[in-house]
Amino acid sequence: MKIISAPDYVSMSRKAANLLSAQVILKPDCVLGLATGGTPVGVYRQLIDWYEKGDLDFSKVHTINLDEYIGLPVQHPQSYRSFMNENLFKHINVPIENTHVPNGTAHNMEAECIRYEKLVESLGGVDMQLLGIGNTGHIGFNEPNDCFDTMTHIVTLKEVTIKANARFFDSEADVPQQAITMGIQTIMKAKKIVLVANGENKADILEKALFGPIRPQIPASILQLHSDVTVFADEAALKVIR
Ligand code: F6R
Repeated sequence: MKIISAPDYVSMSRKAANLLSAQVILKPDCVLGLATGGTPVGVYRQLIDWYEKGDLDFSKVHTINLDEYIGLPVQHPQSYRSFMNENLFKHINVPIENTHVPNGTAHNMEAECIRYEKLVESLGGVDMQLLGIGNTGHIGFNEPNDCFDTMTHIVTLKEVTIKANARFFDSEADVPQQAITMGIQTIMKAKKIVLVANGENKADILEKALFGPIRPQIPASILQLHSDVTVFADEAALKVIR
């Protein structure tokens, strides 16, 4: 695991975007695994900037997102599909049909989990997976558990996650309680993983995830077992480590 420190959020985002950008340049038809939430927005802004300058071409790229709320219509501004359209897809030349987000309004969510898992496989797996980390240590929406969840599945969000995500909604009561997420094993199958974390409020959980015991109560700790993980964090998030 490589840990790259940056002085601030913009610099952290730019460094992480450099790695994603190299992936797209080296393999123009790569599969990028993408995340939502506040942290990756800076990475997406940087990629958009380089695309606008003519440095990047996403026309052959496929993207596959980690997760989606269950029950939010796709058009809802806080659905992860809307988030990705607004923060990345509509600003670059990735064909929209190449972009994949789990369907949180499928009639049969169990079948949707199986479909999504097969989709990842049919794309040949994820070349580079971008991750954030939740305050609970979750990656995707894999919340602390008694075992490491494996494949794409349905989760009930922890209270602390609902509170953290309430900032994007009118009120906490509007945050969906359930989500569909790629599983830990789905994430671990990615060839390369890039994790971004910023801010003092991520410092404790980041230290536990990177240096603590590997246990399902800290889902991100499993990343210690992956052979190609690069963590980009600002100095506030690395405070405990320094
Ligand atoms: C979102 C996701 C989550 C977030 C995590 C951190 O697709 O997979 O694991 O990465 O909740 O969110 P932020 O970046 O908002 O702190």
